[in-house]
Amino acid sequence: MSAHALPQPLTVHIDLGDRSYPIRIGQGLLDDPATWDGLPSAAAALIVTNDVVGPLYAERLRLALAGRYGQVHVVELPDGEAHKTWDSLNLIFDALLSRACDRKTVLYALGGGVVGDMTGFAAACYMRGVPFVQVPTTLLAQVDSSVGGKTAINHPLGKNMIGAFYQPLRVVCDLDTLQTLPERELSAGLAEVIKYGPIADLDFLDWIEAQMPALRARDPLALAQAVRRSCEIKAGVVGQDEKESGLRAILNFGHTFGHAIEAGMGYGAWLHGEAVGCGMVMAATLSARLGLLPLADVERIARLVAAAGLPVRAPVLAPEQASRFLELMRVDKKAEAGEIKFVLVNGQGAAVVRGAPDAVVAEVIDACTG
Ligand code: NAD
Ligand code: GLY
Repeated sequence: MSAHALPQPLTVHIDLGDRSYPIRIGQGLLDDPATWDGLPSAAAALIVTNDVVGPLYAERLRLALAGRYGQVHVVELPDGEAHKTWDSLNLIFDALLSRACDRKTVLYALGGGVVGDMTGFAAACYMRGVPFVQVPTTLLAQVDSSVGGKTAINHPLGKNMIGAFYQPLRVVCDLDTLQTLPERELSAGLAEVIKYGPIADLDFLDWIEAQMPALRARDPLALAQAVRRSCEIKAGVVGQDEKESGLRAILNFGHTFGHAIEAGMGYGAWLHGEAVGCGMVMAATLSARLGLLPLADVERIARLVAAAGLPVRAPVLAPEQASRFLELMRVDKKAEAGEIKFVLVNGQGAAVVRGAPDAVVAEVIDACTG
């Protein structure tokens, strides 16, 4: 398959009043000074990255930003979901305070969702709030985590439990960075792309099915369209419900089961996107058991998840598998007074958020395991 270059960058706007911002999507953006035009100047900027992405891209970003700031500092965090912790967050504060960074300092999150979520949380907290820019370098971060202002770290008892809503000034998705992404991480990102189809856009679901080989081959044009449409859908939802008082929860399709898998296996054992992929099959199966979704649609979602290179069967978390899942899912942020809420789909490109009887959920867990 021949790769197609993207003729010019695309922009998706996220409309949140005085906190609105653009998402720029294109090739060669990192080194292009025009990418950073219009961002506030300051005495200092801090690029927050990790020990995998930093060596690949931090120096290029530092050079591109050098004219805008007196000093551009870089801090490299340890890589991985297991390091989405207070200790890593403190490394960002240590870097800011030890360099006497003031409240105009701009933070740049250069990396995947882990770096993005932690940098955003650090930006929300440092001196009660400093500006930050998302520069996502994984597919997952470009289509989901860099957009919408959810920031967090994990707690041993629950994923993303400590955090804040805090919007970036801009999101810059340089598609070229996806060329160095490990295969497994690309697949994990595809889970969050697939997610948007069943909850919001069946035409997009058709498109993903048709384009899966091009997406897995990292064709820039296919990637650009996937990132653009995913961001458009997410921007539409977040624009209506920034702080998840209702609608935004549909973006968590597959996440209730998925978060249980991540926490139950130990953070980092299954990638977030892998857990979400399998979680979507489980949530679709639950939707069918509750009479909302035809079985053929469950099979369609499972086929697409598998075609993306993702697991479709749940791992065994404990001998009492269903009880362990239920226990972990009760810690989910959508749970209310101990009642677990699931994002269920209807086969028409829409989702509802509601509870389900434990016995039915337990049947689904058993049917989807192994
Ligand atoms: P990640 O940040 O751990 O990145 C995946 C791996 O790829 C890491 O090892 C990273 O170092 C490496 N990497 C990143 N970019 C690379 C590149 N261009 N080339 C080579 N290697 C690269 O994981 P992720 O999948 O990006 O993000 C998952 C996280 O995002 C989870 O913590 C999840 O909770 C969070 N998330 C947040 C939101 C939100 O709305 N804030 C939404 C979805 C997911
Ligand atoms: N990834 C879910 C959300 O941003 O709400």
